[in-house]
Amino acid sequence: MLTAEEIMHKYLKFFEGKGHAIIESKPVIPENDPTVLFTTAGMHPLVPFLLGQPHPAGKRLANVQKCLRTDDIDEVGDASHHTFFLMLGNWSLGDYFKKEAIEMSWEFLTGKEWLGIPKDRIAVTCFAGDADAPRDDESARVWESLGVPKERIYFKGKKDNWWGPAGLTGPCGPDTEMFYYTGVKERDCDQDGCGPGCHCGLWVEVWNDVFMEYNKTKDGRFERLSQKNVDTGMGLERTAAVMQGAKSDYETELFLPVMEWIRSKSAKYDEKSARIIADHLRAAVFVLADDRGVVPSNVEHGYILRRLIRRAIRHARTCGISGSICGEIAEIYIRIYGDMWPELAKNREFVLRELWLEEKRFAETLERGMREFERIAAHCGGTISGKDAFLLYQSYGFPIEITEELARERGKGVDKHGFEEELARHQEISREGTKHKFASGLADFSEKTVRLHTATHLLQAALRKVLGESVQQKGSNITPERLRFDFTYGQKMTPEQIRQVEDLVNGWIRQGISVRRKEETIEEAREEGALAFFAHKYGEKVSVYEIPGASKEVCTGPHVSNTSEIGHFKIVKEEAVSAGVRRIKAVVEQG
Ligand code: ALA
Repeated sequence: MLTAEEIMHKYLKFFEGKGHAIIESKPVIPENDPTVLFTTAGMHPLVPFLLGQPHPAGKRLANVQKCLRTDDIDEVGDASHHTFFLMLGNWSLGDYFKKEAIEMSWEFLTGKEWLGIPKDRIAVTCFAGDADAPRDDESARVWESLGVPKERIYFKGKKDNWWGPAGLTGPCGPDTEMFYYTGVKERDCDQDGCGPGCHCGLWVEVWNDVFMEYNKTKDGRFERLSQKNVDTGMGLERTAAVMQGAKSDYETELFLPVMEWIRSKSAKYDEKSARIIADHLRAAVFVLADDRGVVPSNVEHGYILRRLIRRAIRHARTCGISGSICGEIAEIYIRIYGDMWPELAKNREFVLRELWLEEKRFAETLERGMREFERIAAHCGGTISGKDAFLLYQSYGFPIEITEELARERGKGVDKHGFEEELARHQEISREGTKHKFASGLADFSEKTVRLHTATHLLQAALRKVLGESVQQKGSNITPERLRFDFTYGQKMTPEQIRQVEDLVNGWIRQGISVRRKEETIEEAREEGALAFFAHKYGEKVSVYEIPGASKEVCTGPHVSNTSEIGHFKIVKEEAVSAGVRRIKAVVEQG
């Protein structure tokens, strides 16, 4: 019985023997590509080379790549779909094409020295052809020449047998996919035409050879590439399950210790929920360990990360697990994968800490949110309104997808459009409110601006510590790129003072302090020592943002929920604006 690690070594050895250079796995958060949030396949970091740029390691490459896809998130819980997964891949950059690629795949799958899968367990699919590209008879002929009977060769359309591009544009092409039959009898499924893709689930796709000779352009055309490439992908988890005769990927050593842990803590174990927890937290651990400074938040990578973690926590409640789950599960994953992926061990503390913080934030509101959800669901008829979905999002931290999932479980829908309108409207209101009340100068409410806004509060507090209490805010202007803060002070700051201010701010950021908000009258706020430099009417209710131990200010927000979300703070300029007023420009850097 082969372990996943043995399969991986065999794969790399096989392709090395066929003249491939073994290249390293790239981070799961792409280094230089704004078209996708995550590395979705091994080909992704290779896009420039598929388009024709020479690769320094040559024309034949192979590796194992960390990948993350959210398209299959609703499928997670079945035997073989994941968000994060490890993909074995080999590439020809304008070197070999269909014949050799298919022959190599077949040899590796069925060769006794390699995986040794019985040939009669395998079926394949090829591209059926359409207006963009012809039917792939060439691949089918190669399969036949290798002894795959005609009735085990299926032709399918673009939906099934076309791969790419990874983003909106880029290299893509028809593919041929290899399926393994997991049934016991010759025919376990009674559906007519059972075969690859049948929803009996007995056919598992293990490998995909893509013939990337097209480039999808911005206007949706498929143009021929200058070189014919091969891009293949074999899911390590699925292959391990096949080789071990396991009923699902979760029964392999890649997940088993986590699944056992979940079972041991569950008061009412649910297999599907357990798989979701195991899958999502593995993804979260790898994303956090990627060393790119991505932390849970409300946008982009951070939002996906938040969704994964919060969904896992929600499903832990379904299993009747009380208490926290993230830390212990992360430790198990770090043990399982730490040797192969040293970044896990290296970033252990960061990973554990971010998981802990996010779990704590969500746990604070989850129970109350669930009660609120049940109340809403009981009275909403068939559809939860956008307003209610927004309430769950805003006050209880329920990502909209969690509300949708909960609603689905109760046979109800969610007015997502209404939710989005509500979200936009709310942002509009706070924008207006801020403009009129404080002119606090936020250019927008993007995640970056919000981070800089909270950083401005910390900056003001640090300036008052280093330069004295006479420092008063004179103005502030914040864009997603930088903050600008004007304040009263009579002299140029020394480099030492600037360093002290930066250190103080970064110290508070590192401490990961939760930002608190409360509503009180302006008098109450002043009495408690909150800074309020703008005019307010007597008795007016204002919101006060407190970063305990650092700052307390009257402000309409918005702010990050924890200082750890800010990133590294750096002053880039200190200058005079007028007599007695200085100006600081500063930035925050994520990762
Ligand atoms: N890029 C191809 C896939 O992900 C190999 O299936």
